[in-house]
Amino acid sequence: MATPRFIQLHREDSAALRRELISGLLAAPATVSPKFLYDALGSRLFDAITELPEYYPTRTERGILDVHAAAMARQIGPGRTLIDLGAGSGEKAARLFDVMRPVRYVAVDISVEYLRQALDSLQRQHPRIEMVGVGADFSSSLELPPEAGGGERLLFYPGSSIGNFTPEQALRFLRQARSVGGPGGALLIGVDLVKAKSVLELAYDDPLQVTAAFNLNLLRRLDALLGCDARIEDFAHVALFNEAESRIEMHLQARRALTLRWPGGERRLAEGERIHTENSYKYTVEGFDRLLRQAGYARTACWTDERRWFAVFLAS
Ligand code: AVJ
Repeated sequence: MATPRFIQLHREDSAALRRELISGLLAAPATVSPKFLYDALGSRLFDAITELPEYYPTRTERGILDVHAAAMARQIGPGRTLIDLGAGSGEKAARLFDVMRPVRYVAVDISVEYLRQALDSLQRQHPRIEMVGVGADFSSSLELPPEAGGGERLLFYPGSSIGNFTPEQALRFLRQARSVGGPGGALLIGVDLVKAKSVLELAYDDPLQVTAAFNLNLLRRLDALLGCDARIEDFAHVALFNEAESRIEMHLQARRALTLRWPGGERRLAEGERIHTENSYKYTVEGFDRLLRQAGYARTACWTDERRWFAVFLAS
């Protein structure tokens, strides 16, 4: 039986992470990249979010893939190298194996350690698919090691994670995806769509407060990475839909005037002042199609749910 191979690409060291955090905290307004939301606890809290009735994206995307995977597979064809960007447990991609019939599965996630268990178990269930786990942070630039293999590539980027990029960054990312895909390459990507503000805001500010915990957990990362003295009780979770920018914004809002201190620096926050922690852009079908074409994709197809809340695009 085949065994998965694992490759870890360059990893950001904690000094670089610290520098990034500090420059964000000192900016106006204070900003922290959403990548800091995902430590071990943060990843679990995100998994819990996907179970919430108010958080529709994960469930809606799964519904679209379940109903239309066969139609997608007909356009894609079998024998591809399936490259899963942000694979996590690999569960989403694994649901596609039987219908897409890839020859190789390349799971990419920020840490190769997250991938070991998942790939070992997937490999037992699918002994004929060659499996490679790649640890890489593709948020700044999308590069793959030679072990990812050639052949016809299908990049899979589900979950609407593209929403964390600004439209300009998204365009850059899509261009890179097109070049990494190579000639004959394809991209299957999940995109969250614009909808009523009330629906969007409830999805990012749920009554059980799981999203609040997910956001506030960032303060624990500040403590761990910076030796900061942030107190969870001093901050409130804020999620709002910025219609002009077509994005959900998450912030941590100071409940009182306070100062964050770390060795060598500090950041004062007035009462009500916010640290911006995430953007989650929402697209129209037409708007995202335009972005794909701008990125150089010539053929696009799109599937949505009945409410048109979420879309899965296939671009080649
Ligand atoms: C993982 C970036 C797709 O934007 O919906 C969920 C993250 N933040 N609830 C999203 C998130 C708050 C999620 N993405």
